[in-house]
Amino acid sequence: MLYKILRLFLFRFSPELIHNIIFTFLPWFKFLFPLLRPFYKFNEYTNSFTVNGLRFRNRLGIAAGLDKDGQLIEFWDTAGFSHIEVGTVTPLAQPGNPKPRLFRLVKDKGIINRMGFNNKGAEKLRKKILKAKKRTRNDFVIGVNIGKNKETPLEKAHEDYMKCLEVLYDAGDYFAINISSPNTPGLRELQGDKYIRDLLFEIVMKKNEIVKTKSLPDKNIFLKIAPDLTDEELKSVYDAALSYGINGIIATNTTITRKNLRTKIEQEGGLSGKPLKEMSDTILKKLNELNRGNSDFVLIGAGGVFNSGGYKDKMALGAELVQVYTGLIYEGFGIAKKILK
Ligand SMILES: Cc1cc2nc3c(=O)[nH]c(=O)nc-3n(C[C@H](O)[C@H](O)[C@H](O)COP(=O)(O)O)c2cc1C
Repeated sequence: MLYKILRLFLFRFSPELIHNIIFTFLPWFKFLFPLLRPFYKFNEYTNSFTVNGLRFRNRLGIAAGLDKDGQLIEFWDTAGFSHIEVGTVTPLAQPGNPKPRLFRLVKDKGIINRMGFNNKGAEKLRKKILKAKKRTRNDFVIGVNIGKNKETPLEKAHEDYMKCLEVLYDAGDYFAINISSPNTPGLRELQGDKYIRDLLFEIVMKKNEIVKTKSLPDKNIFLKIAPDLTDEELKSVYDAALSYGINGIIATNTTITRKNLRTKIEQEGGLSGKPLKEMSDTILKKLNELNRGNSDFVLIGAGGVFNSGGYKDKMALGAELVQVYTGLIYEGFGIAKKILK
């Protein structure tokens, strides 16, 4: 209720301005976050889940893109989520696409974004995560979503993913390979047969090398996919992920389609929130059918979750973990409590 009133005010301003104000000023009050815990308090340790040795205290997390540079990691822990996926991070810092690049579709409870991986680079993110880990509870999971720099040609994309792993492996608890953002030219082609197998092979080899040479634990690597894949493409991505030792799939990223929107808007970019839900649920359902009998391969649902109904839908379709982004913008920071209690 309180947030609904605050939202009336916040939504009067440009989305990126509000985002920047929150992400600039809220970290100043880090020392107060533990005091906020009673406001978000509920039994966070319900329905915990372990994948390949990594325990999630509950099934709900923050999807990639909201806290790209890890500025508010401690806050997500306070607010009751089991995990945050920081990033997408690229090896080198980059500014992203020209503004404006973020649009609310209020009537549809959606967002269109074409941010284009604006981020401060892998080295800076590593420092942020290691610092945040001193303040978060031990069982708060920090995943790192990795991508390629805009200027890196597709043929060399694997080098960027490997570089991110190299720099961030000791800091992140799991890694998500993002080959599904629509806002980096050509990136989604990495999901196709021409690239996917070589890419996953190189990435998993790199992980094995790091584990061996640095004596670090084996960590989960998930693959984040687009909702716009055909059945054939989906099967091929799934088969590749399974056969190259990827631990699971995050379904899904934003869509480039525009179906049944009430808002009149013509902006390029990825659409998220309620208009995406049906598509991402369908992909999840199909993945779950492909995944029958592979209990070790994890499905993570993202797309259009705003309440416990949406969360339960994803779980019923086979998700072991669920992530939110747009729902948090429309429902506020209390969304974890609302969904999980
Ligand atoms: C503004 C914005 C930026 C995003 N940036 C990223 C990103 O950098 N990397 C990524 O993998 N997904 C990114 N996403 C996609 C989300 O992580 C999520 O997969 C998608 O929005 C569907 O979930 P939702 O409907 O709950 O928002 C972004 C989404 C939004 C709205």
